[in-house]
Amino acid sequence: MINRRTFFSQSALSLSLIALPTLVQASTVTRRYQLAADKSNVSFDDKGEETSLWLYNKTTPGPLLKARRGEIIEVEFTNRLDHPSTIHWHGIRNINEMDGVPDLTQAAVEPGETFTYRFPVNDAGTFWYHAHHKSWEQVARGLYGALIVIDDDEIFDNERDHLIVADDWLLNEEFQIDTPSLGSLGHWSHGGRLGNALTINGSFSPNIEMASQGQVRLRLLNAANARVLSFSLNNRLPMKVISVDGSPCQPFEVEEVTIAPAQRVDVVVEDCGKLSKLFEVSTGTQFEAARFNPIKPHATRHSVNLNKEPYYPMLDTTNARVVEIHMQGGAMGNLATALFEGEERSLRDLAMNDSKLWAFNGQVGGYDVSLADFNLGDIVALRVWNDTAWPHAMHFHGQHFWVKSGEFGQEEKALLRDTYLMQPGEKKDLVFIAENPGLWLFHCHMLEHHAAGMGGVISIS
Ligand code: C2O
Ligand code: CU
Repeated sequence: MINRRTFFSQSALSLSLIALPTLVQASTVTRRYQLAADKSNVSFDDKGEETSLWLYNKTTPGPLLKARRGEIIEVEFTNRLDHPSTIHWHGIRNINEMDGVPDLTQAAVEPGETFTYRFPVNDAGTFWYHAHHKSWEQVARGLYGALIVIDDDEIFDNERDHLIVADDWLLNEEFQIDTPSLGSLGHWSHGGRLGNALTINGSFSPNIEMASQGQVRLRLLNAANARVLSFSLNNRLPMKVISVDGSPCQPFEVEEVTIAPAQRVDVVVEDCGKLSKLFEVSTGTQFEAARFNPIKPHATRHSVNLNKEPYYPMLDTTNARVVEIHMQGGAMGNLATALFEGEERSLRDLAMNDSKLWAFNGQVGGYDVSLADFNLGDIVALRVWNDTAWPHAMHFHGQHFWVKSGEFGQEEKALLRDTYLMQPGEKKDLVFIAENPGLWLFHCHMLEHHAAGMGGVISIS
């Protein structure tokens, strides 16, 4: 991880500040960062072949941002691209104006302009940030990074706490981002843009240094545009899932973990002495994604608290407001016509002339399409039906929802998530309490699907 060491030494400094008794809010620590979106050339491996990307601070992933729960994050964002851009703080239960959705929560940051994001982080966990203007292109070109918020009883530990950011890039034979395929209707109508080169923390099969014995925490994040990734460890070593999409969960053990685009899963491995490899297994073969290298164990030991509560408990849905969202469209789907900008049109016409392919409740989505209005305090069940031939990673901005997840094997598991992977035909209630006011996007995180109509706005006031 680029700049990792610098971050750790900075955090050690701030830790001593936090240890002081804080009685008044005025003492709240502000973590200041600067992010500049820029074109840059990087190499994914030591062969030195360079790829031209769009990155934050010329690194892939972008700089790792860190904070402690209760602090304020302030990011001065400068756009040095030739295109407008914004930053979305994925998974943060944010202040609406800081959510980074162009034309909904802010004006896009134009080339040469600067915009300062400033918001408190009240939840601990693994989050990420990414461009939200034409994200199907900007994220594909590299505009994303991770954000870790640690809890009061946690420390920044570079031997036992590891971020693993996965991405699949679509590269051509010259090893460059394949740009002619950006916007391809084939991708937009099928499973989205799938890459052919997997990186972990911006490298092909990197060596990850970690403690040589005892517990380690791996924070897995899928930053791909559309590919659902699955990971396992050498010898199918068990991993204990302790947190999904930032929020702690009742720990459970798995040998393989599936992570849809934008999702995060934090796992604990009890004895990292046995750990040597991370495999990506979604294709049915074991692809060596990363290697783990032991370094000297930490002098002071600490272990992960496995008894943390989710951000908020499961809700009683007896009086919930139910809103149905019927997802249709795409290749091999059952959508013949849909409403777009007030006009009912055939899917073929919409695809050919406007690159629109998906609909919610018969209407092509967009930042100007309202899905529901809720009052503050409402308990809500979004009853979502994936009536398409494709899986979709459904993401809700600004809050986490409870879902009886089918993502971890046969048995349903109630999890608090911000992104849920829905299989074709699946119907699920996404349950939340409407306590964060504002205009919030609900969309598919297969970013091509979002651009092609799979998204809309939920208002809470
Ligand atoms: Cu991570 Cu609207 O997205
Ligand atoms: Cu989708």
